[in-house]
Amino acid sequence: MADVAVALAPVIVAGAGTMGNGIAQTFAASGRRVLLLDANEAALKRGLGAIEKSLGKLVEKGKLDAAARSETLGRIATERGGFPVAECAIAVEAVPEKIEIKREVFRMLDQLLPKGAILATNTSSISITELAAGTTRPARFVGMHFMNPVPLMPLVEVVRGVETDEETVRETVALSKALGKTPVVVADRPGFVSNRVLMPMINEAAFTLMEGVADREAIDTVMKLGMNHPMGPLALADLIGLDVCLDIMEVLHHGFGDSKYRPCPLLRSMVAAGRLGRKSGRGFYDYGA
Ligand code: CAA
Repeated sequence: MADVAVALAPVIVAGAGTMGNGIAQTFAASGRRVLLLDANEAALKRGLGAIEKSLGKLVEKGKLDAAARSETLGRIATERGGFPVAECAIAVEAVPEKIEIKREVFRMLDQLLPKGAILATNTSSISITELAAGTTRPARFVGMHFMNPVPLMPLVEVVRGVETDEETVRETVALSKALGKTPVVVADRPGFVSNRVLMPMINEAAFTLMEGVADREAIDTVMKLGMNHPMGPLALADLIGLDVCLDIMEVLHHGFGDSKYRPCPLLRSMVAAGRLGRKSGRGFYDYGA
């Protein structure tokens, strides 16, 4: 039997922010029609703008031709009218990391999508099992955790909730491969694997800065040249968003009850001051307007 999710069935992506627009672009580039939804009209516009910019970069670099760029853009709709929702095999949610917002979005998607379709979340910190429990299809609920920037990063962490069935995991793995990504299946524990390992490193880099062990450039240079990381941890935190980093540290701290995950006070004060990284123009580094 053909995989429903792997076939070129249309998909819904909920949330047009950094992750959502990257996910929509990736699905559209793979030949699938995408309905990109966002409650905020301006965010939707910004999301489409980011997709155009990203595709433009790929054309500039000779990784995509101009025809493929316009075909990809042409596959992305933002209006429900005329979109074949009844044929959708999967919806991927990428709205802000607030459980009430995600629950509401999943109530809507659960009603909208055909019975057998998969509900996937790109959450990096909320329990898959808990989100699944708020839907009528916990067996068809899965984590599909993409990395930022989505069009470039090859990993998808496929997160199996307590009730996720084997078929759903199998289809999500196959779908991730069909998108050109490498899936890795992990269990639903705080931070999964990616953020449980990555965030304590970023948090420790913030402690190192706060204690004056070295300046920001020195800390990032140590990790870039010493460990061959493409970006230093402080520059990476700015890319991810310091608010996101702090939220994930709180989830690890709360979820494991272990003081080794306590968020760095410097990270807390930077978030309180609105220094959120690239998206606010200033984080550990300055990005101008
Ligand atoms: N779309 C298309 N192309 C893009 C792009 C985008 N969104 N962003 C960058 N590029 C292109 C650039 O045009 C450039 O192309 P060439 O190599 O052909 O010149 C290339 O990507 C490299 O870009 P830059 O020169 O600007 O910067 P770089 O060499 O540092 O690469 C990077 C950028 C790919 C982001 C690299 O620095 C990197 O891999 N950094 C680590 C990213 C990472 O760790 N991500 C995971 C974050 S954790 C997460 O996402 C999970 C979570 O839950 C928090």
